[in-house]
Amino acid sequence: MKMELCGHGATTITWAKSISPPLHFPRSSSVWRFRRMNTSCVNSSLDSGESQKADEMIVSITGATGFIGKRLVQRLQADNHRVRVLTRSRSKALSIFPVRDHPGLVIAEEPEWGKCIQGSTAVVNLAGTPISQRWSPEIKKDIKESRIKVTSKVVDLINSSQDELCPKVLISATAVGYYGTSETRVFDENSPSGNDYLAEVCREWEAAALRVNKDVRIVLIRTGIVLGKEGGALAKMIPLFKMFAGGPLGSGTQWFSWIHVDDLVNLIYEALSNSAYKVCVL
Ligand SMILES: NC(=O)c1ccc[n+]([C@@H]2O[C@H](COP(=O)([O-])OP(=O)(O)OC[C@H]3O[C@@H](n4cnc5c(N)ncnc54)[C@H](OP(=O)(O)O)[C@@H]3O)[C@@H](O)[C@H]2O)c1
Repeated sequence: MKMELCGHGATTITWAKSISPPLHFPRSSSVWRFRRMNTSCVNSSLDSGESQKADEMIVSITGATGFIGKRLVQRLQADNHRVRVLTRSRSKALSIFPVRDHPGLVIAEEPEWGKCIQGSTAVVNLAGTPISQRWSPEIKKDIKESRIKVTSKVVDLINSSQDELCPKVLISATAVGYYGTSETRVFDENSPSGNDYLAEVCREWEAAALRVNKDVRIVLIRTGIVLGKEGGALAKMIPLFKMFAGGPLGSGTQWFSWIHVDDLVNLIYEALSNSAYKVCVL
């Protein structure tokens, strides 16, 4: 793992292993049902004056319902931190995080994201249309725009937060796609950005995160392919191999950077609270 201090005071982390070297805001009567089930909402927990325990973090997460986000939510809740899931769909989030298994989890749809971000210790931004699909011109547009739109929204909400309620940290996902691809070159954090489509997406995605104009530590995580049995690339490949339809990809000599989902989640967890990430220099 290496860290660099970018312009704008952001830390960029690239972690690569290579195989060769409820916020149930009242929109319906269901909010009362959830309250009785002891699921918290931002309004009620803030209004009741519930104090934050020492060392307890309140973390708002976009893309929390995804492959990486789900593990991060589990990790944070296991350590008794408070989590606010910023989602496009409350019903989808509730199906992934049932109240009985996630007491105290706050789930918020977009109009309520601002209330969640205010008073959070940190925001982790993981949202975006999956890139592992056929790249039609429309999908390519969506891959880029979904990331920039969500990141810009999060940044606008941070920038408009009252100072005393402003999160201290923004951890925003990006990818090793920033560097482009090469069959021979090895990339590190000093490497320039590439010339292809994914590099362009990553540059604009990172630039959106760097628009924060508050005293917020920004951590950009340029991640390789995330592997784990429950999702991502590996979950797509395993069934083929189980049917004996797997085999070497390409020439079999190429390599790619990868990280196990638990290692990535541990890295995000560490970066949430470890201010050393702010002072690491190129
Ligand atoms: N997995 C990898 O190998 C890998 C590698 C490098 C970088 N990354 C980046 O890390 C982030 C998280 O990865 P992941 O694998 O956990 O992603 P994922 O499983 O595809 O989940 C991403 C989440 O983003 C939200 N989302 C999906 N489409 C969206 C859209 N059109 N507009 C706004 N939000 C949308 C969804 O949350 P809601 O439905 O709850 O809103 C979804 O759960 C992504 O930005 C990804 O590009 C992942």
